[in-house]
Amino acid sequence: MEEELINIKNTAMSFILESENLESLEEVKQQFLGKNGKLTLALKDISKLPKEKRPEIGKLANEVKLTIEETIKEKVAQLGKLEYKKEEIIDITLPGIKPSLGHLHLITQAIEEISAIFEKIGFTRVRYPEVEWDWYAFTALNFPQNHPARDDWETFFVKQKPNLKKGSVLLTPHTSSGQIREMERKKTPPIKMLNIAKCYRRQSDVSHTPMFHQFEGLVVDKNISITHLKGTLDYFVRSYFGQNRKSRIRPYHFQFTEPSFEVDVSCGVCEGKGCKLCKAGWLEMGGAGMVHPNVLRFGGIDPKKYIGFAFGWGVERVVMMKEGLEIDDLRLLYSNNLDFLEQF
Ligand code: DAH
Repeated sequence: MEEELINIKNTAMSFILESENLESLEEVKQQFLGKNGKLTLALKDISKLPKEKRPEIGKLANEVKLTIEETIKEKVAQLGKLEYKKEEIIDITLPGIKPSLGHLHLITQAIEEISAIFEKIGFTRVRYPEVEWDWYAFTALNFPQNHPARDDWETFFVKQKPNLKKGSVLLTPHTSSGQIREMERKKTPPIKMLNIAKCYRRQSDVSHTPMFHQFEGLVVDKNISITHLKGTLDYFVRSYFGQNRKSRIRPYHFQFTEPSFEVDVSCGVCEGKGCKLCKAGWLEMGGAGMVHPNVLRFGGIDPKKYIGFAFGWGVERVVMMKEGLEIDDLRLLYSNNLDFLEQF
């Protein structure tokens, strides 16, 4: 009997210690202390022992029972803590880790804003190839074959055999190349195009990036005059820079427009009076003009029937002007420097 009790204790102890959760511990408890548990049955057998043996065995049996109960209690506490901990790990009430949210690039935001302004007055946004033929970028825009512009514009040429009709392959140096492409696409006016695209020139310093953006407007229709151009420029300047801003055109020269103009915007700081930020109240913005008859002809449009106006400005430039940004090095815009980009 004594041996049996010791045996029961040892097996119970090892089962209890090996239990991995409260359920299996409960099973072990039933197996030993339950109604038909091993220890319960053994205790019943004590009454069958000779009288003189009973106190000694009874005492031992009680000790065994107490030990098993104690050990079970300790194990319950230990497992309970574990289960509590597990819950803690998946506490769904804890705030999650927020994924960081990006935003559109400063220039993309401006492109969207500029597009929306022109779409309101009926311009259609188009895109044309970044890798372009000389024909669209220069020749059809009335640049004579040996015109120094091809050098002046510091164009990137692509190493590829020139096409007999369209000439060399290059990275488009300005959005004006879209003018001819749009005339070819539409065939007959009216044309109201807004071409916003990447442009490339061999320039890289604090105020120039080799890749930049321009937005180009082209309107071709019957009875178009300079007043339409001026009205469009005024509308854009007011919508983009603010209602109190004005535009001004000055004579200039471009190959593809006649007459040609430089467009200025009244200074937002001194409101046209003149300050150290501007030139006597005006800021230079970009080019514009009435489409040269040769350009219409190259685009397949009869210059006797139709007249056009065009303008082309730099997106980066208008953004800097509008925001009053003084960026030490413009190349930062395309540098992947998050500390810089996240400010906008
Ligand atoms: N293409 C010119 C440039 O890149 C800008 C320009 C001037 C565009 C006059 C025009 C224009 O449409 O009419 O500097």
